[in-house]
Order: sequence, then structure tokens, then C-alpha cells
Amino acid sequence: MKQFSKDILAWYNINKRHFPWRDKINIYHTWVCEVMSQQTIISVVLPRFNEFINELPDLKSLAECSDEKLRKLWLGLGYYARARNLRNGAKYILEECNSIFPQNKNEWLKVPGCGPYTASIIASICFKEPVACVDGNVIRVVSRLLNMQSGVWDKQGQDKISCYVNNIISKENPGDFNQAMMDLGSTVCKKQNPICSICPVQKYCLSFQNNTISLCPPLKPR
Ligand code: ADE
Repeated sequence: MKQFSKDILAWYNINKRHFPWRDKINIYHTWVCEVMSQQTIISVVLPRFNEFINELPDLKSLAECSDEKLRKLWLGLGYYARARNLRNGAKYILEECNSIFPQNKNEWLKVPGCGPYTASIIASICFKEPVACVDGNVIRVVSRLLNMQSGVWDKQGQDKISCYVNNIISKENPGDFNQAMMDLGSTVCKKQNPICSICPVQKYCLSFQNNTISLCPPLKPR
């Protein structure tokens, strides 16, 4: 499936969304933006990200930030516990890691508040570690590629999706690959009205071939 990776990366190079944290790789910026954009849409994150980085430009300023200031900087983003986790993480890196950012996924998983999604996206973007990053967009894209009309949401289904992405991920450019999958999910392979006619990976898509796009993924059980 090397060709899949080539096709989606070629599409991404032309069509990627422009975010401040994509211009130049910076571990601190990547960490902050990925925590912010969990559970919050990107259009809300963008202005808050810039203000946050202006006010708290590095680990030390974040670790020492007062509750009041942190709360103000997080206004509108919701789930304030994420901000406190971020500050705890900054303290951990300063105190336990000699201010040196963890250098791979496993080390990131030890940072307070850092789960598999955050650890994977940071490791793939900043350290070129070929690890799949599976969010809601990627689940939708893969369930359509594989025409999964059931068994998407249980552990087995989620493992199948992670395995699939880990197999096709670009070894040369895993960070762009993960972000390309997410961008594809949010701009082309959308939940409603996907634009299959412009999809760069249409030829690999089993649900497109079977005309079952609207059945994939099935509703998430509550
Ligand atoms: N959503 C959250 N983080 C993202 C990223 N790095 N690229 C695309 N979409 C995202």
C-alpha cells in the first residue's frame, strides 16, 4: 500500500490547511495545539492558540502560570482540566526530564495528561515515528476505505483500524501522513455530504465501490 501513502501525501501537499503550528516544527507548539484541538474545533482553537503561545511561550512560563491566567487563556476552549493537565505536564518535563522534551511515543505516554492520541501525533510530527494517530476523522475515513458497516466501535474494530493505519502509514513522513488523514476526513471524507469526486484515495475505497458510503461508519452506540 505504498501507493496509498504517496497519493494522500501528494494531495496533502497541495491541499493542506494552513495552521500556525504547521509552518515550522516546534515540539511545544505541537503539544499545546494538539491538546487544544481535542474536543474543540480548529476555528475556535486558532485565535486561542496564538494568544496562549504569546503569553506562555515556553515550558517554564506554562509551568509557573497562575490559575487565574491559565483560566483566562483557556476561555472558550472548554474542558478546563486539559489546561491543568498541560501545566502538570510542563512541570513534569521541567522537573523529571531536565527540561528535555520526551523524544518518542512511549516517553510521551508518561507525561501527565498525555494519552495515546497526543503521544502518537507528537511522536509522528516531531520525531518521525511511524505511529498511527486515530481520531474521529480517521475512524470515518478508514471505516469507508474498508467498508466497515458494523464492528467499528468495539475494541476489535478500533484495533483493526489502528492496525490498518499502522500498515499504510508513510515511514518517511508519518506526521504529514497522519495530518493528511485528518484533513481528508474534515474536508473531503466528511460525515455528511462527502465529496468523493475529488477524493485522492477514491480508488482504494471499498464503500465507494459498493455505494455504501452513507452506511459507514455505523452510528456509535450510546
Ligand atoms: N485536528 C487536531 N490536530 C490536527 C492536526 N494536526 N491536523 C489536522 N487536524 C487536526
